[in-house]
Amino acid sequence: MPAHAEFQDRMLSLGLARVSEAAALASARLVGHGDEKAADQAAVNAMREQLNMLDIAGVVVIGEGERDEAPMLFIGEEVGTGKGPGVDIALDPLEGTTLTAKDMPNALTVIAMGPRGSMLHAPDVYMDKLAIGPGYPKDVVTLTMSPAERVAALAAAKDCKTSDITVCILERPRHEEMIAEVRATGASIRLITDGDVAGVMHCAEPGTGIDMYMGAGGAPEGVLAAAALKCMGGQMYGRLLFRNDDERARAAKAGITDLDRIYARDEMVTEDVIFAATGVTAGNILPAVKREPGWMTTETLIMRSKTGSVRRMNYRTPVDSPQT
Ligand code: FBP
Repeated sequence: MPAHAEFQDRMLSLGLARVSEAAALASARLVGHGDEKAADQAAVNAMREQLNMLDIAGVVVIGEGERDEAPMLFIGEEVGTGKGPGVDIALDPLEGTTLTAKDMPNALTVIAMGPRGSMLHAPDVYMDKLAIGPGYPKDVVTLTMSPAERVAALAAAKDCKTSDITVCILERPRHEEMIAEVRATGASIRLITDGDVAGVMHCAEPGTGIDMYMGAGGAPEGVLAAAALKCMGGQMYGRLLFRNDDERARAAKAGITDLDRIYARDEMVTEDVIFAATGVTAGNILPAVKREPGWMTTETLIMRSKTGSVRRMNYRTPVDSPQT
């Protein structure tokens, strides 16, 4: 049976939500404590424990890093009970470790699952990313356009002025020229300090005010963002960026031969997937984990690309409940 026929996305989506919830609950205890590592480790432990309860024969394809640098949820780690369908898993147990440590907006726990072979095995390098929401003609903006050309093309497609466009960009020295070029068009820029999975998702989420995301961030996060947009609708492109031979060797190890290739969304995520994200700190897409005396409450987004369905699930649990 082909892998996609075995992939019971409807059944697995609730399980995936539980995995995402557990990671958020664990890291929520460390919001605002100034300790990125501890918050990340708590999320990793909880995510792995829940993942291993699912009846899947899962392989982590986007994870915490290579086996030699990440003891848990490393790339290639087998997860699940081994009794169910073979699936690929892309995850980031805590997307925005610094955001969590400083209690800044938009830290999320993120996980996507698809049939075996459905996701680009992106090495841990940077990726040049470009994303817009749904409803535009195909390729209305491309990575080969300059930032100013992208703003002009999107404004024309939206039938508005360039000054009505808002672009989200990671605030980094490497983006100074891009920021200046976008500002010169009259467009607004929402600068974010971290968390470009949420940054990309903003383009497809109604009410965020973001029209377009652009700039370089982590390649693994790029694949996770592509999985989210495949469910929410919207276009995305990514091109891997290599700074040295070590990074090129990582690509070779991941089986990537064309180093200059521009990947469209559906080339990064080739089959239907499911995606879950839970808010850790308060953001535009998801609220923070709510902590009250004796209780914790989470909100999780569960999405299926096959149907385009977007569910929001609230979960309230006693503080000391075992996560089973
Ligand atoms: P962490 O959660 O690992 O801290 O990553 C956050 C993040 O901002 C990502 O969203 C983004 O893709 C990447 O870091 C950008 O990397 P850099 O900080 O090196 O510019």
